[in-house]
Amino acid sequence: MFDMTGKAALVTGGASGIGWACAQALAAAGAKVAVVDRDSDNGNKAADALADAGATATFVDAELSDPDQAQGAVEAVESAFGRLDAAVNAAGILGPTGPLHELDRDAYRAAMANNLDSVVWCLQHEIPAMLRTIDAGGDGGAIVNISSSAGLVGFPTCPTYTASKHAILGLTRTAAIDYATQGIRVNAIAPGGVDTPLIRATTCATPEGQAMIEGMHPMQRLAQPGEMAGLALYLCSPAASFVTGAVFPADGGLTAR
Ligand SMILES: NC(=O)c1ccc[n+]([C@@H]2O[C@H](COP(=O)([O-])OP(=O)(O)OC[C@H]3O[C@@H](n4cnc5c(N)ncnc54)[C@H](O)[C@@H]3O)[C@@H](O)[C@H]2O)c1
Repeated sequence: MFDMTGKAALVTGGASGIGWACAQALAAAGAKVAVVDRDSDNGNKAADALADAGATATFVDAELSDPDQAQGAVEAVESAFGRLDAAVNAAGILGPTGPLHELDRDAYRAAMANNLDSVVWCLQHEIPAMLRTIDAGGDGGAIVNISSSAGLVGFPTCPTYTASKHAILGLTRTAAIDYATQGIRVNAIAPGGVDTPLIRATTCATPEGQAMIEGMHPMQRLAQPGEMAGLALYLCSPAASFVTGAVFPADGGLTAR
């Protein structure tokens, strides 16, 4: 049920953290995997590591807030593998923090372009690539958008991040409805705090910050990136064939309160 043999997947943000864990899980399940990221050092290392482990893998360098680069990246993956069956859209940043009335206009626009526009640009090209794959005999496409607990509830001092992650859920649900009869499933994961370079450089940069974030979770800890990967693999796999438009918290109980 979780076999991805013969399928091609791309993972945005696949050079680090949650995306990297998802790329490894998809490759271990047999998929050909393209790591799409703007970090070419780590992106190349990630693709090399997947290949060393026996997978067919490639790296595509792209700044995904740029619609032309997003289009070029998805087209490069389709051309490298001759198909696209699955996509995990994980590229994202925290963006500006602080009170909303002090939010810098340019920082807001840049973070929304990074976190939200990039997902729109990727979806716009992932969907037609998956439809072409289905037309050529593929058995369906699956997209997983990585939102956040901050897509489900307000998150203090992070208005831009929270807005971008809520918006990703609206996009996910609408795309799920629009493409349901054409064989493409679109779902989202809403992770709680995950121990990645993103959180280490920001909210968990100090012991006090980390303790505060851990304390928000009933499990009283951060997740490891691999704790997101099984869910992403499930959503991409035939096991989730009747699952679309759904949002899955993976947050140690944070949004259960
Ligand atoms: N770490 C957490 O606690 C946490 C919690 C909830 C949601 N998330 C979300 O998970 C996703 C992955 O985060 P992570 O913690 O693994 O971060 P990370 O920094 O470890 O990895 C993010 C990757 O995305 C890439 N990236 C970011 N913006 C990009 C862009 N515009 N174009 C191309 N590549 C880009 C980065 O180069 C990096 O390799 C993000 O969308 C983040 O918002 C993270």
